[in-house]
Amino acid sequence: MDRVVESETPKLESLLSTEERRIISRHDVYGIRDQYVSADESLYHPFVGDDLLLKPLRFDLRNSLYVCILWAKHPGVLGRHRHRSPVTAYTLEGAWRYAEYDWIARPGDFVQENPGVIHTLIAEQGMKTLFFVNGSLEFYDERDALQNTMDVFSFLDMYLCHCEARGLAINERLIF
Ligand SMILES: [Fe+2]
Repeated sequence: MDRVVESETPKLESLLSTEERRIISRHDVYGIRDQYVSADESLYHPFVGDDLLLKPLRFDLRNSLYVCILWAKHPGVLGRHRHRSPVTAYTLEGAWRYAEYDWIARPGDFVQENPGVIHTLIAEQGMKTLFFVNGSLEFYDERDALQNTMDVFSFLDMYLCHCEARGLAINERLIF
C-alpha cells in the first residue's frame, strides 16, 4: 500500500478489550521484535570447500535454529550426516537430492527432514535452497564413526571467522 494513501486512511476504533490491550502492550517491554533482513545485508561464505556456500539469514541462539541459503557454486556433496532435530527446506534454484532417496528437489519443491537417519546431500551446480536447521548435525565417515558435530553456534562461528579474517563488518542483526 502506498504510504501516503495509508496515512490518509481513517483509523478505525479497536475492538480489543481492556485486558487484551494490556496483554498486547506487554510485547512493548518483553516481546521480540519482528525482524526484516534485506537481501544484501548478509553474504555467502564457504561451507564445504568452495563448492557449497552458506548465506546466513538467522542465528536463533535460544532455540538452536539456523536459517540459511545453501548455494552450490560448483557441484557439491555434504557428507553423511544425521540430524537430531527437524530440518525444513525449500528449493529456490537448481536441483539437489540425497544419495539415499529416489527424489530430486527442484525449484518450488519442499523437503522435510526428520531426526534419526543418516543421509548424504548432493547438489548440482547453481542450486540454492532455503534451510531451517534445528538442533545438531552429526557427520559420519563410511564406517559410521562420528567425525564432527555442528549446531547453530558452529555456523555462527563460521560466519564470524569469515568476516573477521577479511575485515568485513559482522551483521549482528542476524543474531535474533
Ligand atoms: Fe540433512
